[in-house]
Parts: sequence; structure tokens; C-alpha cells
Amino acid sequence: PTLENVSQPAGSLKKIAEKGSELAKEFRQEKLKETKEATKDQDVFDPLFQEVSESDESTNKRETFISQWKKSQKNVKYGKITSLPIQKQRQQLPIYSMRSELVEQIQNNQFLVIVGETGSGKTTQIVQYIKEEEINKTLDGKTKIIGCTQPRRVAAQSVAKRVSEEIGCKLGEEVGYTVRFDDNTSSSTVIKYMTDGMLQREALNDPSMSKYSVIMLDEAHERTIATDVLFALLKKAAAKNPDLKVIVTSATLDSGKFSAFFNNCPIVKIPGRTYPVEILYTKEPETDYLAAALDSVMQIHLSEPAGDILVFLTGQEEIDTSCEVLFQRMKILGDSVPELIILPVYSALPSEVQSKIFEPTPAGSRKVVLATNIAETSITIDGIYYVIDPGFVKINAYDPKLGMDSLTIHPISQAQANQRSGRAGRTGPGKCYRLYTEQAYNKEMIANTVPEIQRTNLSHTILMLKAMGINDLLTFEFMDPPSNNTMLVALQDLYTLDALDEEGYLTQLGKKMADFPMEPALAKTLIKSVEFECTEEILTIVAMLSVQTIFYRPKEHQKLADQRKLRFHHPLGDHLTLLNVFQSWQLNGCSKVWCQDNFIQERSMKRAMDVRKQLKSIMTKYGYRLTSCGSNIDLIRKTLCAGYFKNTSKRIANEGYKTLAEETAVHLHPSSCLFGKNPEYVLFHSLLLTTREYMHCVTVIEPKWLYELAPKFFRQGEGENKKQEKIVPLFKGNKDEWRLSTQKKRNLGR
Ligand code: CDP
Ligand code: MG
Repeated sequence: PTLENVSQPAGSLKKIAEKGSELAKEFRQEKLKETKEATKDQDVFDPLFQEVSESDESTNKRETFISQWKKSQKNVKYGKITSLPIQKQRQQLPIYSMRSELVEQIQNNQFLVIVGETGSGKTTQIVQYIKEEEINKTLDGKTKIIGCTQPRRVAAQSVAKRVSEEIGCKLGEEVGYTVRFDDNTSSSTVIKYMTDGMLQREALNDPSMSKYSVIMLDEAHERTIATDVLFALLKKAAAKNPDLKVIVTSATLDSGKFSAFFNNCPIVKIPGRTYPVEILYTKEPETDYLAAALDSVMQIHLSEPAGDILVFLTGQEEIDTSCEVLFQRMKILGDSVPELIILPVYSALPSEVQSKIFEPTPAGSRKVVLATNIAETSITIDGIYYVIDPGFVKINAYDPKLGMDSLTIHPISQAQANQRSGRAGRTGPGKCYRLYTEQAYNKEMIANTVPEIQRTNLSHTILMLKAMGINDLLTFEFMDPPSNNTMLVALQDLYTLDALDEEGYLTQLGKKMADFPMEPALAKTLIKSVEFECTEEILTIVAMLSVQTIFYRPKEHQKLADQRKLRFHHPLGDHLTLLNVFQSWQLNGCSKVWCQDNFIQERSMKRAMDVRKQLKSIMTKYGYRLTSCGSNIDLIRKTLCAGYFKNTSKRIANEGYKTLAEETAVHLHPSSCLFGKNPEYVLFHSLLLTTREYMHCVTVIEPKWLYELAPKFFRQGEGENKKQEKIVPLFKGNKDEWRLSTQKKRNLGR
């Protein structure tokens, strides 16, 4: 599939997906209000089971539920998931029976594909077998690193922690991990887990991967861009470095393709140990999947036998809301029902909270894990008997209408639906509640997920490949090459950012941009801040942009929280508001109390501080001068324009905002400090698509900065009158012309 036909066929799922997180928000406001009213009167039965007032009917319903629950508990034995000694646990994994065969195959082959169900022990065990058998020792007795990549940072962190426990060392010593902005390894690290993006970065400086003896590309079925690029880079590295071994692991059966790519290498299959899973579909499409999911959780908790529940939701906001709603519902039910332990899982979660999900459920209670698709294959939670699958996932995808990536909710593929239901059959026969119809599964879901490389903006990837000296993208050995169109869009982005020249070769600026582990526009912003002498401020803003939520609004103090937030609002926009928050926090000694008083997430602030430190050390390492602009705020806004000129829009009378590049309608989000102020020209950090396209993090700009700072993207037009600026985007409308005129010349960089 190409960019144009990635979108799903129209149907009920598509419509629901479009409403996705908007529904979540409405749901949050409505249900929390209801629940709040209900909790005032402690005796009222859960309003989500319809009755808000204490009618006889609701009392009956409640008693029926409780007696149902008690009955169902009679024959249930809890505490089945006892903690065996950790070495015993290792031996119980399905992969253990394959240990000697695996070891032999790894010893005898440079490339190997290993396929096994999620939870069979691939990620945690294979690297240990290699270490135990000393496959990573060279002939002259030196020990080399065993690397294992993960598409997600949470998985890299949690799995490294687990393996350090199995080996019995401190995390960061023999076993460590590296994810962006967090390196937990040392000179003694032998087993190193890392995100695929970090290994791709290492290839910049060490293309033959000389530090490694074995590299395991784990979760290859996820087909992230970085893993896809590593396929090609490691194949090259292995050709140069005969001591390097590459293992590719996958949870699904598309292994033939991986083997074919790596010179028809052998495939080892790890026998699954799964129980049957009963699949239940809804009869009618569920328009409000979040409400349906939470109702299902309560139904299962109150009427099904013991066993933990896993719910797949699309993102942090949905998960946090749901946890809160479930918590309120349980509070209303009180001690009359068994405890429900409610646990959120998403990538922004701090690791202390993450590790809780792996703790066995105490006897007599039930655990419900609300997770993003991270729990599909990256993380295995034992004891799950029930899976609730609303059928959606939030993905980053290129939107041709916008000319850029946008985060949107999509229906999952059939392969994903099957992975999800499989999670219920690990400990015993389970049940999967699909909150969509069987027809939707058959007719509306595509069979396999489209690889990320074919659906997102590739500018970051192409910049890195160019920095590695790979100029000829047409002959670069992608397993599934992105369409020429995708590559052209990325090349065009890099060209307008001044990272590539007319011939498609890396410029001096482009070379510098590749040093930063982030999207090209952000890298350019950092570098440009040196010229505009506002690096200290830009460092802070970039760090603050990298953390997820800064402000919070507890429901009992929403007004107060809003008032406090107002104090940080900068008249020129959200970027400067973030700067205000960070600076005030520092002025107040980074105090916890200050955060509480101002309804600011202390955790996010600390993380921003951490990210800032790391970025600063990159800047110092490459010899950039760090300066501050003091009160000359315009320099900051200009710097932002130098990187984010493409993310700009203009207010059109009676029509709202339209992007300058593609003239697509976009909106100010109510949480923006510019909401209601409606300045004429704005720049935004990213777009979030719900029912409408929202600009996230918005700042007022002056239009002339655009053609001054991005002459390859905008030129000054003839204004109707002198006072009025007119901006003409060069790539609008004549895109194909540009392509034709440059395709030959640039020839994708050849
Ligand atoms: O990679 P794969 O899905 O094949 O399995 P794994 O991640 O190696 O997990 C094997 C087992 O290790 C799981 O079933 C869990 O019991 C345990 N594990 C854990 O307790 N904590 C983790 N963070 C990861 C795995
Ligand atoms: Mg795994």
C-alpha cells in the first residue's frame, strides 16, 4: 500500500475511529460529573448501570450482582500465580525446552529468525543463553556486547529490569538499557536492551557494529521504521563484520519474509503453549467504545470467575479517565464486592508504576490492566483471562491532506485483533470481548498492519541515512520500500529545512542536524538558536515539549487549577508559557510544594529537567555557544519559525484557521493560552486529530519571518495594500511541478 491508500475502507469502524478521543473527552466530562454527584450520596448504585437515584430496581440489581459474584467465586482458587524461585520460573517458559537447539543454531548461523508466541521467553531468555554459553566471547577471550532492540522504551526498561533480577545483578551493570535521554549502562554491561532508534543512531558512528557480538532485532513483526532500517543496516554490517550475528524475532508467522531477506536463513519455531480463547463479538456496532469497555470490565468483575482483565485503549488520556471512572465505580460498590486493582500502562508512565503490573494479584482480588497496544506483544502480563478489545489504536500517520504526520485513532488490523485475543489464553482458557461486530472484523479490518515506513514521514530516517553516507535511496535494501512519493515528501522537507542541497546531498547544517536524536525541525530549531542567541530558552522549550503533560486539573479543584495556570500564560503563546512554567519552577527551588500549589506535574518537570541536561550536553559536546536572550522574546519566536515554518496557519475571517502550506482547516485547542484571542498568524508544534484537527502548542508569529527564514518554502506575495502581508507557499499547488523539476536532478539523491 502507498500513502494514499493506507486509510481504511469506509464503514462503522472508520466512523467510530474518527470520533474516538473526542468521545473520550465527552465521556470523561459527563461520567465524572455523574459519578461525582452519585458519590455525594454514598448509598447510590453505580450510575453507569443506569439508575442514578436509589430505586428499588437498582438495589435489586446491585444485590443480584453481588450474589452472582459470590456464587462464581465458590469454586475458584486464588493465589495460583505463586512466585516460584526465579530460576525455576525461567525453566517453566516454553523456550526453555528449545535451549540447546537455539544455542546450536545461533552458534552455526550468522542470521537466524526465531518465531514464538508472546510470553514464550524470547526477549528475556535468548540473550541469557548466549551469555551463559559464552557465544559473545571472541577467540582472544574478549567479551563483546549482546544487544537487543525493542520498538518501545517501556519494554526496553522493564525487560532489562527483569533480566537483571534473573541474573542477580544491579540494573545498569551486567544488564543495562539505553533509551533516548536515558542511558542506564556501564562499562561492565554485557546484555544491553535498547530502543531500535538508539541502535540506529549508533550505526551513524559505528556502521560495522564492532562492539557487538550478537544483535537481536526483537519484535520485528511490529515493523517500526527504525527496525526496518536496521534490517538493511545490519545486513550490511554483517557482510563487513563476519563476527557479528543477527537474530530476528517475531511473534507472528510472517517469518518467511524475514528469512528471505537475510539470505534464506533458518527459522526456529518455539512451540506455543496457549489455551483456547472464546471470542465474543457485539451484535451491533458500539458507538461509544470507551463506555462499552468499562461496562464490560464491571460485568466481568461482578459475574465471571477469577482471572485478571486486560483492556486495550488508545492513549494516555483514555486510560487515565477510565482508571478514574473505574475507581469511582468501585468506591460506590464499597466493601460488598471483591477488590479490583486498577493499573494503567502506557509509555509515559514512570517505571515505578510500570513494575506494579507484573506483581501477582493477591488472593481474593482481581486486577484490571488498561493498556495501549504496548500490551499487544511488547509486554506480557501473567494471569490475564479476559481481554477487552474495542478495536482501535492510535498511530502516527502521514496525512496527505495536511502534508504532514498526524496522530489519529485507526481501526486495528485482523492480525492485531488476533494478537490481542491471544493475550487471554496464556494462563488458562480465556475470553476475548471484541467490542465490534463479526462483520466489522471480516469486512472492515485489513489483514495486516501497514509497516510504519510506508505510512509516516521519513525525513528523520532519510537524514540519518544521508549522514551515514547512504545517498542512493533507490537501491537501499528496504524489506518493503517506501513509495517514491513518501521519499519525495521527506526529501522536500529536508530541502526546505536547508538540510539537503539542490542535488540531494547533505549540507553542513544537515550534518549538524543529524547529531540530534529528534525530528529534523526540532534539531534545526536547536541549532538555529545559537545564531539567534537564545539557546538557553530554546533548550528549555524543547525539553518541555518532550514531556507529555505539564498541567493537571483535579476534578475537585478545576477552577482553581485553571486560575493558577492562567498566571503562567504568555500573551504570545504556549511555547513561552512553557518557558514561564520552567523558569518559575527553578526560581522556586524546583520545589514539590510549588508544583502542588500550581497544579503542575512534578514528575514531568523533573523529566524535562533531565531531558534539558542531556540536550545541553549534546550542544556542549559539539561546541555550540549557549546564550540567553533575556527579555528579547522575539528571538525565540524567530528561532521557532526557522524550524517549524511548515506548521503555520492564518486566521481567515469567518472561517477559522487554515494552514499556510495546504490550506487545510485547523483549530486552536481550548487548552491553548491563545484560545479566544485568535491572533492572525500562528505557528504550532504538532497536530492532533479528533473530530477536528487541533493545533497543539501554538505561538503568535509575524508573517515576514516566514519568507525571511524559510525562503525555500515561502516567498513574499503582492499584498492588497501595503500594510497587509501576503505569504505564498512555494510548494502549494505546484508540488508536482516541483517534483518533476527536481526529481530528475535530485533523482532521490543519487
Ligand atoms: O519475548 P516474549 O514475549 O517471548 O517473552 P518474555 O518477554 O521473555 O517474557 C517471558 C516471561 O518473563 C513472561 O511470561 C513473564 O512471566 C516474565 N517477565 C516478567 O516477569 N517481567 C517482565 N518485565 C518481562 C517478563
Ligand atoms: Mg518479547
